[in-house]
Amino acid sequence: MAKKIVVLTGSPRKKGNSIAMTEAFIAAAQKKGHQITRFDTAQMQINGCRACDTCFSQGKACSFDDDFNKIAPEIEAADVVVFTMPVYWYTMPAQIKAPIDKLYSLVVGQRDIAGKQCALIACCEEDDMSVLDGVLMPYQKSIALLKWTSIGEVLIPGVLAVGDIDKTDGCQQAAALADRI
Ligand SMILES: Cc1cc2nc3c(=O)[nH]c(=O)nc-3n(C[C@H](O)[C@H](O)[C@H](O)COP(=O)(O)O)c2cc1C
Repeated sequence: MAKKIVVLTGSPRKKGNSIAMTEAFIAAAQKKGHQITRFDTAQMQINGCRACDTCFSQGKACSFDDDFNKIAPEIEAADVVVFTMPVYWYTMPAQIKAPIDKLYSLVVGQRDIAGKQCALIACCEEDDMSVLDGVLMPYQKSIALLKWTSIGEVLIPGVLAVGDIDKTDGCQQAAALADRI
């Protein structure tokens, strides 16, 4: 059955390693008939959560004029949410951390978002797999709180420059995620 998939990318590199994996996933998912809505968070204006706790009180997720308000309704409607990013300083980039922080609005607003599927696609320069724990742990804890189920995590170490991902099986692993939806 065709599903609605929201993809949030976190890299500012439009042809970078995590975007290459993202696009491999999207192509595979579209081939299976799924509907993709992609947000490149590094190209959007999304500020950090101000913890004003007024989420949804003015008819929109975030009370401020913020591009997260374009993402929130799509996440609410989605069957699957896919997060893709590089590691920055042993954690996730600020660009995607901001919209992830603003998922708080869906909790504060008591929106009905439990039961979704999700996935993580991430990469880093260092060869040490534990570097990817900095994105894996917040992903796992956050989706447990949201009552979402992970269909898989593609974690690729050892890629630095644009194109390095082609020396790994990262894009094949990302494409294979589409088989689990
Ligand atoms: C600001 C910044 C911080 C980074 N921090 C780390 C890090 O802590 N550990 C690491 O292994 N790689 C780090 N990297 C390297 C990236 O994770 C790596 O180049 C990755 O392949 C970039 O993915 P992208 O092409 O999708 O942007 C950092 C890169 C930048 C620009």
